Amino acid sequence: MGNLKLQTVGKHLRGTLTMPGDKSISHRAVMLGSIASGDTHIKNLLDSQDVNSTITAMSNLGVTFDRDGDDLIVHGKSLDMLIEPTQMLNMENSGTSARLLMGLLAKQPFTLTFRGDSSLSKRPFGRVIKPLMAMGVSFVTKNDRLPITKLATKHLKGITYELPVASAQVKSAIILAALQADSTTTIIEPIATRDHTERMLASFGVQLERDNNRIIVAPQTKLTATNIQVPGDISSAAYWLVAALLVPDSELTLQQVGINPTRTGIINILSRMGASFDLDKAKTTSEPMANIRVQSQELHGTTVTATDVPTMIDEMPLVVLAATQAQGDTLITGASELHVKESDRIATVTTQLNKLGAHIEAKEDGFYVHGGTPLHVTEPTTVDSCGDHRVGMMLTIAALITEGDVSLARADAVNISYPQFFEDLNEVLS
Ligand code: S3P
Repeated sequence: MGNLKLQTVGKHLRGTLTMPGDKSISHRAVMLGSIASGDTHIKNLLDSQDVNSTITAMSNLGVTFDRDGDDLIVHGKSLDMLIEPTQMLNMENSGTSARLLMGLLAKQPFTLTFRGDSSLSKRPFGRVIKPLMAMGVSFVTKNDRLPITKLATKHLKGITYELPVASAQVKSAIILAALQADSTTTIIEPIATRDHTERMLASFGVQLERDNNRIIVAPQTKLTATNIQVPGDISSAAYWLVAALLVPDSELTLQQVGINPTRTGIINILSRMGASFDLDKAKTTSEPMANIRVQSQELHGTTVTATDVPTMIDEMPLVVLAATQAQGDTLITGASELHVKESDRIATVTTQLNKLGAHIEAKEDGFYVHGGTPLHVTEPTTVDSCGDHRVGMMLTIAALITEGDVSLARADAVNISYPQFFEDLNEVLS
């Protein structure tokens, strides 16, 4: 794909969009449906490259899938009926597929090799293989990076493990392995992270115990198939929340957005910056949802610290963009995890937004963002997604408030989590 010319200042955003399924919840629905007894029907599953990596991996292990209209039907197989794949499991760009599947497949009695694309092959896996090794799994790896081979495993033992980084992916991998262990596992979370695995397990009939920041997992491998409604992805809705706030005379309604409290940090931070939103909550399912209405508003700077970060980790590029337009400066700390996302987001967000006239200083664990900086370019400028879906979509929103001529390189990165992103943008531009 060549560079994509972006819409710059001059249009408003108006209308209603229904959000694509939540990426994190979609992965978990496919994984748990795959090992449950019976057929799981999934509505509003995210149809994107990352979720397809999980579906393909489970197909390679012998799980079969069907479509019923827009729904995906997963014909579950119990964990001891999975078959040895004839090829490596290609996780492509998907960290969630790779890390969660290492836990889910930890006790398979055959060798499995996980590989990924060039971005995923740079990301750290020591954080997930270390606790799995303590449970009895053997891995072959160079520098804790993909490709990683998991050797055949007979037994897993329960462990007590304090997570050194606040990561839902690592927590989930340990939970999924712990269900297959000979004894109870206790996971200690220093800062609460998204709890979709815990909620999804409950939908499949498996209850975990929670005691403050401890999750206690008793062995249990009998999952019962169920019907899952995947809420819209708040991480996708976040582009429109920030766009409507920043683009003058805008008003958007986003339908069926997941508002699990472990994910709503973006709403909390923008509210702290002075924004208000109308939330029309739907009747509660295991994952709460709401329609959210938002209009253009003035923002002011704020401070973001480590405890805020897990609830909005993927929305940080948008918080930085919003902060460039706020009155006053914003200091973001405790966010060094951003270095190891699909790109080094501290570097990529700073470099690319500064090309548009922002004044952002990269810090070791976050950003110092100078507020009130109008975005403009004096000559045609190409910004780069750097192959990172979230950076590419944030830059597209940034262009909407930039004077001048802006193009986006590697725009196809949006297919990782939001393939209809540019269509949705065209739909609400007026
Ligand atoms: C995810 C957890 C987060 C997030 C990622 C999806 C998940 O990663 O950044 O996009 O589905 O569990 P970490 O848990 O590693 O921070």
